Amino acid sequence: MSEFVKVERDGAVVVVTLARPEKKNALTGAMYEALIAAFNEASDDDRVGALLIEGSGGVFSAGNDIGDFLAYALAPGASIGATPGMRFIYALARFDKPLVAAVDGPAVGVGATLCFHCDLVYASPSARFHMPFVDLGLVPEAGSSLLAPQRFGRARASEYLLLGEPFDAEEARAGGLLNAVVAAASLHAHALAKATALAAKPRQALAAGRRLIRGDETVLLARMGEELKLFEAALRSPDARAAFMAFMSRAKG
Ligand code: COA
Repeated sequence: MSEFVKVERDGAVVVVTLARPEKKNALTGAMYEALIAAFNEASDDDRVGALLIEGSGGVFSAGNDIGDFLAYALAPGASIGATPGMRFIYALARFDKPLVAAVDGPAVGVGATLCFHCDLVYASPSARFHMPFVDLGLVPEAGSSLLAPQRFGRARASEYLLLGEPFDAEEARAGGLLNAVVAAASLHAHALAKATALAAKPRQALAAGRRLIRGDETVLLARMGEELKLFEAALRSPDARAAFMAFMSRAKG
């Protein structure tokens, strides 16, 4: 468990809040473990009909903790498939109940790519999505190399994933990633109301409809496997190490 992930119940909805605002909700191994546990418990509990994920402090998430990336890159023999971050993205892709995200402020790295796995995504006007994998010497993860082009088309996806250009809430809505842009003050209530509405639907019909909309899971999982191999090699590359060290020294300075 992690003090930086809050898990609460609101009726039939599990509300998961990333609560490390002083580090922009950057995700550590312990936070991923807490997220995996929350997803597993929500999946196993028949009273739960949907899961809502949100940030705190005006930030959704700054993505993977870069200190953790650096520690991994320097650890000899570590296997990335076993890391909490990688286990989390598989838990996310395989989660079998409706997932709703409420994005306020920056959503970087996996903070952005996790949104592709959600059934409904709402964001405030201050939301800013950024997938700077290539600039960090990394490759797209969490199936984003498949899901982003599906959503935005290849041209846009290349701007976001290769050039690493950030995009705002309106662009995300126009591209089909967001359902709606909602004022920050009503974002939580709006997303919770939608999650509650989903949770109240006939469960079997909802699950079946959701599977159909999401399409063949094996295609996504195969792509995630390919990404994982490349990501593992990239994480240990001199480019990635240099980028992580630059970020960490910037943080200290
Ligand atoms: N990992 C570790 N620490 C992080 C972090 C991350 N991904 N993102 C932010 N932090 C820390 C900063 O080091 C800083 O710590 P400090 O106060 O001890 O110096 C603190 O969070 C605040 O970050 P800061 O950059 O000062 O806030 P900001 O409002 O100017 O910018 C972001 C917010 C999210 C835009 C910016 O922090 C950022 O781009 N972070 C890196 C995101 C990233 O590359 N993630 C990995 C993607 S694969």
